[in-house]
Amino acid sequence: MPAMAKQARGQPIPLLSVPGEQPAQPQYVRLYRRIREGVLQGMLAPGTRLPSARMLARDEGLSRNTVEAALAQLQAEGFVVRRVGSVSWISDRIRNEPLTPRRYRVPEPARPGRPGLGEAGRPARLSARGRSMAALAEDDLMRPGLFFAPCTPALDALPLDSWNRIASRTARRASGSYLMPPPAAGLPALREAVAGHVGMSRGVRCTADQVVIVNSTQQAIDLVARLLLDPGDAVWFEDPGYISARQAFRAAGARLVPVPVDEEGLDVAAGSALAPDARLAYVTPSHQYPLGVTLSLERRIALLEWAVQADRWVLEDDYDNELRYEGRPHAAVQGIDIAGRVIYAGTFNKILYPTLRVAYLVLPQELVEPFARARLLTHGYVPTLTQRVLAEFLDEGHFASHVRRVRGLFRERRNGFLAAAAKHLPDDVSIGPAAAGMHVALRLPPGRADGPVSAAARRRGIALPRLSEHYLGTPRDGVLVHYGNAPPRDIDRCVAALGELLARGG
Ligand SMILES: Cc1ncc(COP(=O)(O)O)c(C=O)c1O
Repeated sequence: MPAMAKQARGQPIPLLSVPGEQPAQPQYVRLYRRIREGVLQGMLAPGTRLPSARMLARDEGLSRNTVEAALAQLQAEGFVVRRVGSVSWISDRIRNEPLTPRRYRVPEPARPGRPGLGEAGRPARLSARGRSMAALAEDDLMRPGLFFAPCTPALDALPLDSWNRIASRTARRASGSYLMPPPAAGLPALREAVAGHVGMSRGVRCTADQVVIVNSTQQAIDLVARLLLDPGDAVWFEDPGYISARQAFRAAGARLVPVPVDEEGLDVAAGSALAPDARLAYVTPSHQYPLGVTLSLERRIALLEWAVQADRWVLEDDYDNELRYEGRPHAAVQGIDIAGRVIYAGTFNKILYPTLRVAYLVLPQELVEPFARARLLTHGYVPTLTQRVLAEFLDEGHFASHVRRVRGLFRERRNGFLAAAAKHLPDDVSIGPAAAGMHVALRLPPGRADGPVSAAARRRGIALPRLSEHYLGTPRDGVLVHYGNAPPRDIDRCVAALGELLARGG
């Protein structure tokens, strides 16, 4: 028996508040957890003798059986050693275990804006990948309730009646099968429906077995980055470009090569000069994010010519592909790619609702299996019931009529924005192309920084993301107006507020 255990009475059990303690826990569990916590926090050192079960019962006001049950549990887990005659002490064998109080203290929750900070505010030791992921900022402007909140479609126009009818009918009919995970690449019915839909509406050439269902474009980009890029591989990235894509590529260790965007979209010749041997080009050809231009046919062909020369990929993010108000929509780049170098990503989250979490990839055949398997790793599948409901929603034509309806609605909102801009904004604010989508980019007059304008608008409850943040190279100042979820009267009021801010210099 260790020397310390020779104390006659034994050391009292420290009064400790144990993390995660529930009032409903049985008494013996509470005593067990207190003693264990005392050991983990270094208050009950190895070799310390505990009071006898009888004394413990008296001191703690518990029954003898309760104390015996706690000690038996501690003994079974190796914290406590017991001898005949009910002498017990803290096991000596844990002396050399890495049980330091520091290690076992429950970390304080990270404070907002300080990701990864653990005990005493010191940064947690993260992997290089972890550091790059933790550096991502949460977008404050995505908060619901702000006017012009990005990525918020016309929620009031959702055909909830049809959706709910299909959902309850499907849930009844599918009995328990929807409680099980879907196949790795997605539910066959939804893959069929998506293949039909993108073939018809976007000129994408594919069969259902090229479709992999994912929960967002973001997940699609993350999978592409992780499966096709090694750390240090170069990626052509539109400049300005979509911040969330930039973050996903960075987190995968890619080297981003900013490629300028002009009125014809991505400058492919510039890309070829800057990084001819890049592994991938990320593009938003139908409606460049954030500037709103469309990739010209010449550039589309040049991009495919670049991709076909070696083992290179084009990731086409067709995020708001349904919404064009003027001219004929360009078919997807994927539709003119005969060499199978284009990976096409589309999403339902933007046109239906953001928490739906259904998007899809159309992949060259050889990538389908690896992507489907890799998606399993994250368990980020779309629930089976949601997939089934969406498949029927598409098959029965509800999605197509919703698109027709919101296209009209967004056109009205776009017109409302343009009218309000003509009325309230100074002439030296230049308004980007507004022929498609749910947002417009505004360029501020030379010398006018977008930071203060965006911050002042935010204080008035209006989300106007800064254009300059979207650049990797030399930034241009401007703001993005996401008018999608704003009724015309709010559009006029908010644009008037922006006009006032600009006039005041704030
Ligand atoms: C360029 C671009 N791609 C993709 C998305 C979003 O798609 P998801 O919600 O499916 O990730 C957005 C959202 O605004 C976007 O701007």
